[in-house]
Amino acid sequence: MEQTAVSNKENICAEEEVDLKDILRILEKHNDDRGGLIAILEEIQAEYGYLPEKSLRIASEKTGRPLVDVYSVATFYRSFSLKPRGRHLVCACLGTACHVRGAPRIVEELKQQLGIKAGETTPDKEFTLETVNCLGACALGPVVVIDGHYFSKVRKSRISQLLEQARNGFGKLDIGKDKGIFPINVNCPHCNHSLNDETFEIDGHTSIRVTMSSDHKQGWLRLSCLYGSYNFASELEVSTGSVASFLCPHCGVEFPSTSDCSVCTAPMVPMLVDGGGIVQICSRRGCRNHMLDVV
Ligand code: FES
Repeated sequence: MEQTAVSNKENICAEEEVDLKDILRILEKHNDDRGGLIAILEEIQAEYGYLPEKSLRIASEKTGRPLVDVYSVATFYRSFSLKPRGRHLVCACLGTACHVRGAPRIVEELKQQLGIKAGETTPDKEFTLETVNCLGACALGPVVVIDGHYFSKVRKSRISQLLEQARNGFGKLDIGKDKGIFPINVNCPHCNHSLNDETFEIDGHTSIRVTMSSDHKQGWLRLSCLYGSYNFASELEVSTGSVASFLCPHCGVEFPSTSDCSVCTAPMVPMLVDGGGIVQICSRRGCRNHMLDVV
């Protein structure tokens, strides 16, 4: 990838305030491999909060990828946005299960309190409201996800409190007291052995230990047992966009996937929830899709 010398004045692509130097720095960090484009777009989005059109044109030009390819990746993954988003993303499920449990009333309340429609951002750029068809936790509906934190069985009376928590930052949340973020114990779907590992904590709870296999290498992967947390620790370096397989560290059998990710089409990896139900996580590094069905 060749870096272009630009003057300070040229650095800013005026209409969208895209800093060319930033984009070139991001492009330089990534090789032009299969997962490279996703990683590039993730970094641009982290920098700007969305994918400005100008940045996609620069990415296309500098990587040699046709612009249509860049756009197809940018529009395929739900986590990417072509429009500026607010500091906080509120995503309310309107899927069938949540719908029958009162999700439309929750969405109305969110619209009213934020003063915007679904798909819009508040004028102060604090909140963006989106609706989705299923967040994969149907038994816990109505489900609302704010800044990646899942809140289950949400009632209208709880909305203002949730928005206030988002404004103040969820980092200050006492997870143990928040009923929307909860620990789960899971077992291997083959041998039923517990996968929770008390010797290694993540998010202040036991981690979920599995064996990950990627690129002919195997190593441990420990996931947060908090549903709604994406924290993990891994022995293997797996590049963003790669698909891994997951095995039980006790019986060595690969977890059998029976469905594909609705976001990126990689196999979903199932584990049994202690007490009944299944949790599934996407096997693609970087895809945050996961589903929980409890009975
Ligand atoms: S319908 Fe809302 S989580 Fe599935």
